[in-house]
Order: sequence, then structure tokens, then C-alpha cells
Amino acid sequence: MCGIIGYIGPREAANVGIGCLRRLEYRGYDSCGGAVIHDGRMEIRKGAGKIDEINRELKLDSMKGNIGIFHTRWATHGNVSRENAHPHCDDNEKFSIVHNGIIENYSYLKEQLAKKGHAFSSETDTEVIVHLIADYYNGNLKDAVLRALNDLEGSYAICVISSYEPDVIIAAKNESQLVIGLGNGENFIASDIPAILSETKDFIIMENREVAVVSRDYAEFCNLEGTVIQKKIQRTELDAASAEKGLYEHFMLKEIHEQPRAVEDAISNRISEGRVILEGEFPLSANDIKRIIVVACGTSWHAGLVGEFMLEEIARIPTEVEYASEFRYRNPVIEDGTLVIAISQSGETADTLAALREARKKGAKILGIVNSIGSSIAREADYVLYTHAGPEIGVASTKAFTSQLAVLYLLTVYIGDKKGLLPQQQVQNRIRDIRKLPLQMQKVLGKSEAIRKIAEKYSGKNNALYLGRGINYPIALEGALKLKEVSYIHAEGYPAAEMKHGPIALIDEHMPVFFIATKDERTYSKIMGNIEEVKARNGEVIAIASEDDEDIGKKAHIVINIPRSSYILTPLLAVIPLQLLAYHTATLRGCDVDKPRNLAKAVVVE
Ligand code: G6P
Repeated sequence: MCGIIGYIGPREAANVGIGCLRRLEYRGYDSCGGAVIHDGRMEIRKGAGKIDEINRELKLDSMKGNIGIFHTRWATHGNVSRENAHPHCDDNEKFSIVHNGIIENYSYLKEQLAKKGHAFSSETDTEVIVHLIADYYNGNLKDAVLRALNDLEGSYAICVISSYEPDVIIAAKNESQLVIGLGNGENFIASDIPAILSETKDFIIMENREVAVVSRDYAEFCNLEGTVIQKKIQRTELDAASAEKGLYEHFMLKEIHEQPRAVEDAISNRISEGRVILEGEFPLSANDIKRIIVVACGTSWHAGLVGEFMLEEIARIPTEVEYASEFRYRNPVIEDGTLVIAISQSGETADTLAALREARKKGAKILGIVNSIGSSIAREADYVLYTHAGPEIGVASTKAFTSQLAVLYLLTVYIGDKKGLLPQQQVQNRIRDIRKLPLQMQKVLGKSEAIRKIAEKYSGKNNALYLGRGINYPIALEGALKLKEVSYIHAEGYPAAEMKHGPIALIDEHMPVFFIATKDERTYSKIMGNIEEVKARNGEVIAIASEDDEDIGKKAHIVINIPRSSYILTPLLAVIPLQLLAYHTATLRGCDVDKPRNLAKAVVVE
């Protein structure tokens, strides 16, 4: 999705701004550009393509000027072209804007402005905002922006500059994320904190319908009515290195390898004296929770499915998992005692946020399980359990997923304990099990090279099937999602028993079938039956199996062993080989793993 950077200070804005803009590349984009003001004149350079390409051609980062706004565009209105790339400007090139979001009433506004003689040079919804600002300008940029914003319906994060007032950037936010970074004699604006972590650790997070006037020395805030608002400065503990690739070739690989640490960080401050301690973060009485609905999208939705299994199994609370995009447009039944859990890495996914609001309207209590600190879902939920995985830059979610599972597990044990369903010894055993996980995960990560060899064998395939049962059925879904996201191989995930109701028709000697076939009392023998069914149709079987399983080698063509854990924690181990497999397959196929085509890290529009 679109990314925004703004800079004002003593340095060359384009040089600083384009550097920061690169750190937003992970969000997914198709074009980029920037605008600076120098000697009272606006200069705009932009084009369709990646930052490096456009920079080679247009020298974006060599533009002169100490104030500038920069943008990566992920097309919504209008195709991918230079004309549609941001920044956009008015007819006289006195004002320019970058925008993230969707203006819903732009057609009407465009018509009105055209009648007044405004000429448009793009197909975007964004361009109407800058024409409106030019139209309203009467010697005060902030006032003109405020008037324009009051005409808009929809979502936006914007930065506006004008050569009439070259010492301020006006920023505003409604729905789409925007933060102000405070430096020493210089200030920054960005779509997210990691993009400017190398520049500052002091931030002001903008709320909906707020406007900021940002100069070199100050940032002042008001609402859309112009009333002044006092904002809190927050200091982040994240360090700049957490948003860099370091020694790894790709963020995805780095983040896969960070999982033991991420799980450790998710659990470490929440366990004390043999108990899970969540009272401070989640003060709702466990006995008051009669039903749980999880809302999420993508990989976070898969985490919800694992969570459903955990919560029903241990905490004995009826749990449903909904696609946030479906939930928000139904008329869901929310009874007294319903807890809605919104799971989101970014905390900004538009559908999940809308589902949260829908649930709140109907009287539910909301718990956010969120990675991105201070994000919209974290702020709007009644309670929030942060996953503490650190910035996740690779578009395909990996460490955020396993840390979501770790938090769901803690939540489950906590509720089970509070409801008196788990004797103290069992609570301790459950805690011991999860404490062992980081080391066990490390062991699985040690198989990366072996998994690369397996990927070599299958990277030329066009299709793949992933099958699992019980708590590992969502891992089959997640394995298939990872493969298709980053390698563009068509992959389907299914509960193994459902194979007979359709996918079995696809199986022949060209079809690799990945089974999650770890040992457990409930489903192991059934999975073995499913493996036989695939083999009988000449499918190639690759099994993720428990390391003490001596028989599986006789059945599967290839076996990837993972350490034995308690059944309920196997998803956190079983998913790692599938993440690595997707990663290696994609790199072997020459795909851009960190920025897969058409995908966005945070889907902040519907
Ligand atoms: C996008 C990302 C996925 C992510 C999903 C939900 O599709 O590419 O990796 O799982 O959004 O995002 P969230 O931030 O809400 O977890």
C-alpha cells in the first residue's frame, strides 16, 4: 500500500526522504516520486517503477531543497503510470500532495472543480485534494487544507507543501496511518515508525481527523474544526537495526530466523512463578467470557484458526473465526459475554479495523493481538496484547504469525487457569512446554539448507497441495499461502480428510503433496491413511513429521523432521519448514520474496 515520507530541516530533503522511502518499499508499490521546494520553486520528479529504477533515471534523491514530500504508490484509482504517480500538484504547481487512502466522493468533487476551470492530469482520486486546496488558498496553507479536508469523504493520510509557504508541511490523517518523528531542528512525517527509526526515536502518533503543521522546530496539531490539540510525545524502544536486513539476503529469511527470539519476547514478561500473568494487559474476568469471535485477515486469520482450537480445547470457550471482511458486512449476533479478538500484525488492516468497530457497536469487548505498537487496532481495542515480534518488513508474514500463536497460547492457558479448568501442575507443564519452544524452533531452522534442496526438486512445479488435520489444518492453509504469495506457484491448503471431496481429482505424478503428519493420538493414523490415498494416485508425498517417528520414512517420499512438542504447540514448529520451503522455492524461481507482485504488507483499503 502507499507509503509517505515528509522532511523539513537543514539537510537535503530528497536525500533524506528517498532513503526513508526505501524502508517503506515492503508495503508494496508500483510507482514513486517526490516534490521539493527550492528557491521558492516546486520541483516534482516521479515515475512508474521501483525506487532504484526511477532514481537511476530521474535522480530523485539529488533534488535540491530543505523541505520535501515523497511517496510510493500502490494503484487503486487509475493504472500504473507516471501521470498517476504521486506527488500531484495544482494547475500552477504551487501546491503538491502525497496521499494514502481512498477519497470516496472524488468524482463529484472533480466535476465541481472542472466546472471552475481546474484541469486534471491524472485519473487519481488524490488529485482533487490538491486542486481543492489551491481553490481554497487565501494566504494560509493550514486553513486551505482544513477547508479541503472538510469536503472529503473517505480515508487519507496526506502531506501537503506549497511554494507560497516553504517553511511548513501540513499533514493530516483519517484512517490511514501517519506518524510525526521529532528531530533536532528537523522533523519527519512517515507512514510508519520503522521507516524513520534511523533518524529519531521520538514520535507523535496522529489520530483520525487530526491535522499537523510541521516546521523545522515544531509540530502543532488541531482537529478538522481548527481547535488546537495537545499531543503526547512517545519514545520507542525499537532500534534502527531491527528494521534492517543485516547479514541476511532478504527480510523474509531474517524474519524466519528471528522466530525463536520473537516467541521468547512474546512470552518472557508474561510468565511468573509458574503462571501466566495477563491481568494488567487484559483485566477482563475470564468467567465473564462466554463466547469468542476472532476477526482477522490473511495469515492472522490462520493464527485465529489455531487459536480457536487452543481456546476450545483448553479454555473451553466456544470460539468462531471470521474473515474480518465478511464479518463487517453481515449482521453478526453479539450476545452478552462475547469477546471479539482482532488479530493483526500491522494493526492497520482496513477490514479488521472495520470488523472491530462493528463488534464494538454491537456491544462486544475487544481484545487486540497486535504487533505494531500504537497502531489503530491497538488504540481502538479495549485491551491489547502486543506480540513484540519487532518490525516485520517482508510482505509474507512469518515471525508475526508464530508470535501471534504464542500469545494465543498464553491467553488460553491464562483463561483456563483463571476458570479453574487447569490444575496448577498442568499450568506449569504448559508453561514448560512453551518455554522449550525457542530452542526447538532453532533446531528446525538448522534444516534450512536441507529444505533448500527439497525446494530445488519442486521449484519447477505449477501446483502444490498442503494437507493437515486438527490443529495443523490451519498450518496447511498457511503453508499453501506462503508458497503462492512468494513463489507464485498455485497452492491449495485443505483439511486432509476433505481431500476426498475434490482435491483428490488433481493428484497425479506431477502433484507434490505436503502433509503435516506429526505424531498425536487423535489424527496420526488418519493422516497415514490420507498419505496412502495420495500415493495410490502417484502423488509425491513430503511429510513434516515428528523426529521420533520411525515409520513415516516408509510412507513418504521425503520427510522433514521436527522436534516433539505438546500437540497444541506443534503448529509453531510445523510452520517453519513450510516458510523455508516457500522462501527457497521463490528465490530459486528468481522472485522478489520481500516484495511479491501485487501484494501489500498492510492492506489499509477495502
Ligand atoms: C496482507 C499481508 C499478509 C497479512 C494480511 C493481514 O495481506 O500481505 O501478510 O497476513 O495482510 O495483515 P495484518 O497486518 O492485519 O496481520
